[in-house]
Amino acid sequence: MASAAIPQIDAIKSAVQERYTGLATCCSPLSCGAALDKAAPARGEVFVDLGCGRGQDVIRAAGRVGPSGAAVGIDISDGMLEKARASVPPFLKNVRFIRCDLEKLELEDRFADVLTSNCTINHAPDKLAVYREIHRVLREGGRFVVSDVIAEQELPEAVRSDPEAWAACYGGAITEPEYMRAVQEAGFRRVEVLTRSDPYEKGSVMVRSLTIRGFKDHADGGES
Ligand SMILES: C[S@@+](CC[C@H](N)C(=O)[O-])C[C@H]1O[C@@H](n2cnc3c(N)ncnc32)[C@H](O)[C@@H]1O
Repeated sequence: MASAAIPQIDAIKSAVQERYTGLATCCSPLSCGAALDKAAPARGEVFVDLGCGRGQDVIRAAGRVGPSGAAVGIDISDGMLEKARASVPPFLKNVRFIRCDLEKLELEDRFADVLTSNCTINHAPDKLAVYREIHRVLREGGRFVVSDVIAEQELPEAVRSDPEAWAACYGGAITEPEYMRAVQEAGFRRVEVLTRSDPYEKGSVMVRSLTIRGFKDHADGGES
């Protein structure tokens, strides 16, 4: 989906930052799947979490990858990043949080072995740009696991144009076929659905939670 098709991109991003900075200090769950467990970061790997929120998955991953690996959290909400940084135990030296947009990651090409995102990419107006960035920052053979909210049906215009609905994790939701098209168009050929929830109501619309895993192929088409 191209950004140009979505009105009020600045308004969406402001609403997202405002909502999540407000939620940084409460403890209600904000995830929609078990992306970290399914991604299974291993010792020595470089791990990235997009839309890390309070940073709990990044901190858990840092323990799993150990001192020879690294764990990086990405978010745009200052309150979330502040909370995340304050939650890192002093003995963990392999954790870093970066403030940047999902659509333009401040990470080098082929930086990560494993990348997760939990209930975040639905907020991005340009899902294809996000998946292109995921493809760029993963090394060949690297993997992603993403849990996200998808729409049962194309959403009504009144919802799609409401920045508060985007910030609340449903206004930016797209249908599963549209979502999978963006993932494949970004360059991922090996993608599987790990879990798909029953439909549930969010705001005024019906959505599902989907968890998918994909692998970046080698330039010669090899899969390992
Ligand atoms: C529903 S919360 C999920 C937080 C965390 N992944 C979890 O499972 O608890 C979504 C997070 O994505 C962040 N976010 C939303 N849009 C973003 C964007 N365009 N760039 C970077 N982060 C974004 C928000 O600030 C928020 O912290």
